[in-house]
Amino acid sequence: MDNRPIGVFDSGLGGLTVVRQLMRRLPGEDIVYFGDTGRVPYGNRSRETLEKYARQDCRFLLGKNVKRIIAACGTVSSVAPHVLAALPVRATGVVEQAADAAVRATLNRKIGVLGTQATIQSGAFERRIREQLPSAEIFPQACPLFVPLVENGWIGRDDEVTILTARRYLTPLKEAGVDTVILGCTHFPLLAPVIGDVMGESVTLIDSGKAAAEDCERQLRRDGALNGTKKAGELHFYVSDRPQDFTKVASMFLGCEVTGDIHTLDIEQVDRPEPAAAGR
Ligand code: DGL
Repeated sequence: MDNRPIGVFDSGLGGLTVVRQLMRRLPGEDIVYFGDTGRVPYGNRSRETLEKYARQDCRFLLGKNVKRIIAACGTVSSVAPHVLAALPVRATGVVEQAADAAVRATLNRKIGVLGTQATIQSGAFERRIREQLPSAEIFPQACPLFVPLVENGWIGRDDEVTILTARRYLTPLKEAGVDTVILGCTHFPLLAPVIGDVMGESVTLIDSGKAAAEDCERQLRRDGALNGTKKAGELHFYVSDRPQDFTKVASMFLGCEVTGDIHTLDIEQVDRPEPAAAGR
């Protein structure tokens, strides 16, 4: 048994799709969530910046004594897996989990990958799919405009702006005849109804957040590291800016009311070296 919380982070709200899945599967686990709302979006940042952000986000969660970290962010998982691999606790992302689920799901071996600019440029999903299924035909598509649509809650199936945006991004994949599409950014599962409408119901959508939560559950069970206190898990939310907006949209992401304090922190201060002790 391990009663420490699970740490989850993302650039903003998207990672809450992972929290939602964790709450369903592991209702006894405490979760500390950090949403870097002051620096969202991550998807158009350079590799150097993303490495720095990932280190700071993880360092903050390590300070909360977490037993596991989930980078609930396709961008960090794709561009900075080495940062996760170097941590003193087990840290996982969404790439392997979602790519493997897509390989299991596809029948015609034509797989679409949706992600941020940085995720698609990294080629991380493609590499993982090819390792598992060398004959796969892969159709990557960066969808940067999906992120602000989701952060603003424009996720309805009748939202004209969202539908037009989705058609523009998805038409090439539809024409290519993909039968499986990876939602390779954790914001995108919120757009699954619209994406599903555009792609058609015969296309399987792979929710990267769900795949990451399933993987975490498997690991904790295997390692005997579940919370043993038999109480309902607690949720603790931290953001780097605008906590008021977070509460409103987070309820939509989680599918339940977000109550309690949302704490704000200055993430840039997290990895500043401690000032030297006086007299040394
Ligand atoms: N939710 C994140 C991802 O999975 C990042 C979106 C962004 O900040 O651009 O890639």
